[in-house]
Amino acid sequence: MADSASGQIDHVLTEDRLFPPPAEFTQKAVFSTEEQYLETYARARDDRDEFWKAEAQEHLHWFEPFNEVCKWDAPNVEWFVGGKTNASYNCLDRHVEAGRGDRTAIIFEGEPGDTRTLTYSELLTEVCKCAEGLQSLGITQGDVVSVYMPMTPELAILMLACARIGAIHSVIFAGFSAESIADRNNDASAKLMVTADGLYRRGKVLPLKETVDQALAKSTTIEKCLVLKRVGQDNVSMTEGRDVWWHDVVDTQDGKLPAVPLDSETSLFILYTSGSTGKPKGILHTTAGYNLWAKRTFEWVFDHREDDVYWCTADCGWITGHSYVVYGPLSAGATCLMYEGAPNHPAEDRFWDLVEKYKVTIMYTAPTAVRAFIKWGDEHVDKHDLSSLRLLGSVGEGINPEAWMWYHEKIGNSKCPIVDTWWQTETGGIMMSPLPGITATKPGSCCKPLPGVIPEILDETGRPVDPSSGGMLCIGQPWPGMLRGIYGDQERYVQQYWSTVPGKYLTGDNARQDSDGYYWIMGRIDDVINVSGHRLSTIEVESALVSHEAVCEAAVVGRPHDLKGQAISAFVTIRDREPDEELRQELRMHVRKQIGALAQPDDVRFAATLPKTRSGKIMRRLLRDIAAGKEVAGDTSTLEDFTVLAKLKEED
Ligand code: WTA
Repeated sequence: MADSASGQIDHVLTEDRLFPPPAEFTQKAVFSTEEQYLETYARARDDRDEFWKAEAQEHLHWFEPFNEVCKWDAPNVEWFVGGKTNASYNCLDRHVEAGRGDRTAIIFEGEPGDTRTLTYSELLTEVCKCAEGLQSLGITQGDVVSVYMPMTPELAILMLACARIGAIHSVIFAGFSAESIADRNNDASAKLMVTADGLYRRGKVLPLKETVDQALAKSTTIEKCLVLKRVGQDNVSMTEGRDVWWHDVVDTQDGKLPAVPLDSETSLFILYTSGSTGKPKGILHTTAGYNLWAKRTFEWVFDHREDDVYWCTADCGWITGHSYVVYGPLSAGATCLMYEGAPNHPAEDRFWDLVEKYKVTIMYTAPTAVRAFIKWGDEHVDKHDLSSLRLLGSVGEGINPEAWMWYHEKIGNSKCPIVDTWWQTETGGIMMSPLPGITATKPGSCCKPLPGVIPEILDETGRPVDPSSGGMLCIGQPWPGMLRGIYGDQERYVQQYWSTVPGKYLTGDNARQDSDGYYWIMGRIDDVINVSGHRLSTIEVESALVSHEAVCEAAVVGRPHDLKGQAISAFVTIRDREPDEELRQELRMHVRKQIGALAQPDDVRFAATLPKTRSGKIMRRLLRDIAAGKEVAGDTSTLEDFTVLAKLKEED
């Protein structure tokens, strides 16, 4: 069963408060009546192709029309076959050609307080220049561009520039290690690496280029490295013949490059995410279907209007940044705030300062952030006027009812609907969410599926179960934003997502449906844990641990954590070393170096042996209970022996 914070699950199962949307919100909303939702949902379900045909014709620009809406031969799908479009054109040129070029596209604020505003016309010019720069470096359609950048406008510009010429971006969150970058570069056969001299984080500079240099020493396919000057770092090492500056290559272009008409199914990006095995997988999304899904889900869920100032706090290193910082809102012509840094720099009120300063109307953030705000104290919120806000969103993990209530009352002044959006890297965009004008929300529930999403709750054999008791969440029909594969590994794609229940997409989450038809996500069915809204595979962390010479065997589990949702608990058996504090720190740093700071174990416990079943399987459930029940003992001089417990458990 679920590997998630079980206390939280028990809690949400008893949650029955209802929060209907305020009447004035409903009046102007995109979905303003329940009937409208039901009718739209029924049309998308019963007449899928007609529904999406009309959506695609209206919401994307077509250089050439498509002649088939959906070619579905599970698990392979093609959407809008024969058509030609371009995601960068849909995000930019479309608005400029409609006379909306002077509208603000991006309002940027850097962590040190520097600001920059780009209109749609200006953004278009920058994207064209960047695309021309990419071409001058030899990048053409189908080439993979690996990206390790700060959250500045150039990151969005680069993504759109790739889309403009049909290059495939692979954005790597700028907190991953050199090892992780190299693995991803090699897996994707990336040709170009794009980075910056550094980024600002809590007042310090992180030297990105240094990390990239280490990664490039192990990357076999990268030919060039494009470097943005962000922090003005002295002595950035530039390798002759490989490294070039952004200001030399991009800023010098004329910025006129037309968008290339691309087949609907042209690869748009790869984004690596953790699955139930040790190796992160490159989730592949393609142009037309993804673009349409990002746009329409953005408009439906965030109820977007002309005068909104929208802020998604996610980094573009994650799927939320792809779909709801770049492709969704820009396709919809929204004005988006983009912030580079930490929420507690220079002080814990930075987010609220930004909301007040830019009069943000829609804010989309993660439960882990909300829990941090609660911990930091209400005084940071009280200093600011947040009355511009009209809608709040949550993503990345389930939001516990306490955090939901605080978000609702303290940030939303009890008047803003909260959209708790459930989705995944693989789904491309939001799958289940309240519709803010019509859904009476329940704290902790992602409520209802969006039009086009047909959820099913099944048992291990693929048979429907009583939805109120819960089971595996699967999706029975293709939707435009669904992943098209795992880059370079079709077999793993089929095995991972489509073989448990043939012909149905396995989400990897457990869910239940209550008597009002609301969905409640109950955690993962596999060894994926969710740390501060970031997906990690326990096996990935175990592999990193056993690559240390002192470790014989490692088992990693998640345990409930007040701020992060789940913390990482590692149990290790060792050789040739004393189980002391020094080794514990060394192992934590080792994982950090192998994967990145976000994977560093919170606790490392030394075990004499790991508890195993008679057939030799590590008893993870037992370790989860142990990790959840006990803080790490300060005394590390003895090796804990879990075998006795394991025996007792087996006799249960
Ligand atoms: C979890 C992030 C409950 C879930 C967009 C899913 C959630 C995984 C929610 C995907 C939510 C995300 N309620 N659980 N609102 N949103 N999850 O790929 O387990 O980084 O499968 O995509 O996060 O994480 P990913």
